Amino acid sequence: MDKIQHNISLKNYNTFGIDVKARSFIEINTVAALQELTTSEEMSNHFLLGGGSNMLLTKDIDALVVHLNIKGKKIIDEDDNHVWIKANAGENWHDFVLWCIDQDFGGLENMSLIPGNVGTAPIQNIGAYGVELKDSFIECEVVEIESGLVKLFDHASCQFDYRNSIFKSELKGKIVITSVTFKLTKKNHTLNTSYGAIESELSNMGIDSPTIKDISDVVITIRQSKLPDPNTLGNSGSFFKNPVISKEAFDLFIAKHPEAPNYKVSNTEVKIPAGWLIEQVGFKGKRFGDAGVHNKQALVLVNHGHAKGEEIWQLAMKIKAAVKEQFDIDITPEVNIY
Ligand code: EPU
Repeated sequence: MDKIQHNISLKNYNTFGIDVKARSFIEINTVAALQELTTSEEMSNHFLLGGGSNMLLTKDIDALVVHLNIKGKKIIDEDDNHVWIKANAGENWHDFVLWCIDQDFGGLENMSLIPGNVGTAPIQNIGAYGVELKDSFIECEVVEIESGLVKLFDHASCQFDYRNSIFKSELKGKIVITSVTFKLTKKNHTLNTSYGAIESELSNMGIDSPTIKDISDVVITIRQSKLPDPNTLGNSGSFFKNPVISKEAFDLFIAKHPEAPNYKVSNTEVKIPAGWLIEQVGFKGKRFGDAGVHNKQALVLVNHGHAKGEEIWQLAMKIKAAVKEQFDIDITPEVNIY
């Protein structure tokens, strides 16, 4: 087992750049090391850390922080049209997407530049520009913490939903994802260009029959224009989920706010962009000390330098209350709060 370190700052291990300390810290590079650790005494009080891109740390962590850093990816099967790729949990998501595009393997291009690692992507079923992880997911391998056993989860067992899966609910804290297998296309790629911004950006660039690389480039351009780079401005992507409200509540809402963007989820439910709601209540671009709301996308909270996790949390609660008061809509965090 690798060496356990003590009293380690986690500032460089979370994309919000929050400076909290871990009582102890271990980096895990292999499944075997993880299995050994899970069945050991040290694991009785632990905290799992992947890319640290979807969490807000509000206090020191009085536990063993387990940093999952298992690297590697390989093609495990292929036929004329498809390729099956197994990527280990510690691979950086965006680097993995770019590697797939380089080999002309299609399916992940709309999810370019999403922060985080491969192993944490299934937990919240990451998604962007009309595509979600679940669309190319085959299975993931996990280590069960209690027993140290390796288990496989197929698509159905993961119970994927909008920014949700079984790993965020029932199995929270019970397993560690060690690898994910994707099925991607080798040719006849299914291109998803219907998301408004993608279409207009492609036509700006004069591209009418895009490749997966073109789509990735366009997504990168759009994301860079709206979403701050965590290396220069700490953030965790969308802080809140887009709320889904009942058709009845929506009818009342839209009568008062006919200009509000909205997406039909089903015959009984409608999704409203939280970014729009937050902008309406006046928080876009606001700053309270070093905790702020991004000036180009109100759904993203940012750390302008030395914000404490608690300050960002207070700001989030202020925003939530303002949205509730003005629209009677509840918005809930997408990021995990510790
Ligand atoms: N909007 C505003 N003001 C804002 C932000 C957005 O009015 O400050 C409006 C936009 O004009 C647009 C609508 O809200 O009409 C939706 O905005 P956008 O296309 O930027 O997407 P989003 O719903 O805010 C979601 C995901 C993002 C993902 C984008 C693109 C969630 C919680 N967020 O954001 O995911 O990149 O769609 O697919 O579903 C993430 O999860 O970390 C993330 C960045």
